[in-house]
Amino acid sequence: MRVLVIGSGGREHALAWKIAQSPKLTKLFVMPGNGGTEAIAENLPVDITDHAAVIAAAKAQNIDFVVVGPDAQVVAGLGDDVRAAGFTCFCPSKEAGQLEGSKSFTKALCDEFDIPTAGYARFEDEASALGYIYTQGAPIVIKADGLAAGKGVTVAMSVEEAEEAIIDCFSGAFGESGAAVVIEEFMEGEEVSLFVLCDGETLLPLTTAQDHKRAFDGDTGPNTGGMGAYSPAPVMTSEQYEFAMQHIVEPTARGLAKRGTPYQGVLYAGLMLTDQGPKLVEYNARFGDPETQVMMMRMESDLLPLLHATATGTLKGHDVIWKDAYALTVIMATKGYPGDYGKGSEINGAEGLDTDDLTVFHAGTKRDGSRLLANGGRVLNVTALGNSVREAQDRAYRGVDAVDWPEGFSRRDIGWREIARERT
Ligand code: AMP
Ligand code: GLY
Repeated sequence: MRVLVIGSGGREHALAWKIAQSPKLTKLFVMPGNGGTEAIAENLPVDITDHAAVIAAAKAQNIDFVVVGPDAQVVAGLGDDVRAAGFTCFCPSKEAGQLEGSKSFTKALCDEFDIPTAGYARFEDEASALGYIYTQGAPIVIKADGLAAGKGVTVAMSVEEAEEAIIDCFSGAFGESGAAVVIEEFMEGEEVSLFVLCDGETLLPLTTAQDHKRAFDGDTGPNTGGMGAYSPAPVMTSEQYEFAMQHIVEPTARGLAKRGTPYQGVLYAGLMLTDQGPKLVEYNARFGDPETQVMMMRMESDLLPLLHATATGTLKGHDVIWKDAYALTVIMATKGYPGDYGKGSEINGAEGLDTDDLTVFHAGTKRDGSRLLANGGRVLNVTALGNSVREAQDRAYRGVDAVDWPEGFSRRDIGWREIARERT
């Protein structure tokens, strides 16, 4: 099978890395890819927002199967266009992709199918939004109603902070995505991500992971796309897992199918483990970044047939096997991220580190001859396996410390919650 992976992040490097191990693969392309995918696949330098250009390149390369990575491409309906051109494609439809693209779409779905989530209200003007928070008080959560690269959410601990977030939103801080705000009840608990493949009808649960969204140690600083993750997340009990499947994931898949817009792809449920049981924080309609990096390290099964079966409605009877180990990834980002940062700084020592227990996935990197340069905010994902989260963490940080990149930074505490539990 000739496979094309679309995207250029650590998630796409991890998917490509795993697909590259499949006996069913004949040739692998990544579009546009990064400095890491270049070593395991052929990078195709195409603008992935230009759907006609993507299709033309896929035709030119005789691609059998297209795998779409990033949220923006899912929400823009790249999957629909690629399928209309005759390709098999792992990517939910634009309709079903609204699970991620529109917070109010998901909230309405939760209402319709009784899916536990935070109470909410939606406003299209600043005055009514402000009026609402004055009656509700804090803590309260303010969200731009659209895609904002994980940065459109403010968990406001005070009314002043909520006011500021609302004013920001309506003053255009998130462009079109801020034309409306969703204001949510604050949910208290620990967050877990649950990944489930869905072929429109059949569900195949993958596994759980825990992300670290804040930029700095101790979960402080601004929200980012994710600074590190580990998998599985043992904090989720089997009862909570069953509950989440039965009351959140299954009704979502059934509900979308019933509406005539079945979901085909990976459902990424962001869950809050509250005292009243798991509640949905949000859905993403694609693999997580950096959760994919840890999942791919742990996955024993061949990924390619699983993705293909998801895309072709033939998931029934498939199974997935995991290594009996924990995986943990540490993101190395350019100083300044998630705010402004420079590009082009040189990275040394990141290559040749890979072993059976350690893989350095690339995100924002590019090659300049023999030099490796930083080319984005999140740059490297140093990912390790271990018999405990602690062991995986030690191994990952040994990898991080072997990289010589003065312009980079990483959190030093990825996995801290689970490591504290492992100690007791
Ligand atoms: P989202 O983009 O919706 O995932 O929100 C980003 C982050 O904000 C989540 O991962 C949570 O940490 C936090 N968050 C979102 N909604 C809530 C909520 N209703 N209660 C508490 N925290 C929330
Ligand atoms: N890890 C967060 C995300 O993929 O959205």
